[in-house]
Amino acid sequence: MTLWKEAAHQLRRAASRTVSVDRRHISGLSGARKQLFQSNKISQAVRRDLYVRGIAQSRRQFSVTSAAAHGHITPPKPGEEINVSFIDKDGERYDFQVSEGDNLLDIAQANDLEMEGACGGSCACSTCHVIVEDAELYDRIPEPDDDENDMLDLAFGLTETSRLGCQVKMKKDLDGLVVRLPAMTRNLQASDFK
Ligand code: FES
Repeated sequence: MTLWKEAAHQLRRAASRTVSVDRRHISGLSGARKQLFQSNKISQAVRRDLYVRGIAQSRRQFSVTSAAAHGHITPPKPGEEINVSFIDKDGERYDFQVSEGDNLLDIAQANDLEMEGACGGSCACSTCHVIVEDAELYDRIPEPDDDENDMLDLAFGLTETSRLGCQVKMKKDLDGLVVRLPAMTRNLQASDFK
């Protein structure tokens, strides 16, 4: 089992108990995160979040792609438009016509909707959490992989039709997709806990 898989496995087991993980697995964390992780002053949920984010950072080096670099979508060709709608946390609905291959994070950011995408679409945070309204359309989206499931575990307000927006690419049979933005997302940074 890779270091990452083992860490994720331990986190799942630790989720409902006191966090207890092998010291080997925190070697990839930055100094600040390591100190916070080892401190008893922060909650288990915070430790889990910092732990996962730290490992994800060291593994994927997600900082090379800034969030500002996202949000670019291709205008759809006439006749090839795919309809997608977002409902924001105030219940306001926004309808768009997009191209095949655009992901929900890019669509939201290109249209100035409130979707943070803190890791720049690297599947290393949960700030692009969306809730798919229609279960039938949800079933047409390719299943989330282990990395996405691990990040979804950290999302606030997780539901049975939750996905990470950056991992959902539009395609023809998702025409009419409606996603709701959750009331809040979690984006913890080590600097929040000085
Ligand atoms: Fe971080 Fe989607 S933007 S997981």
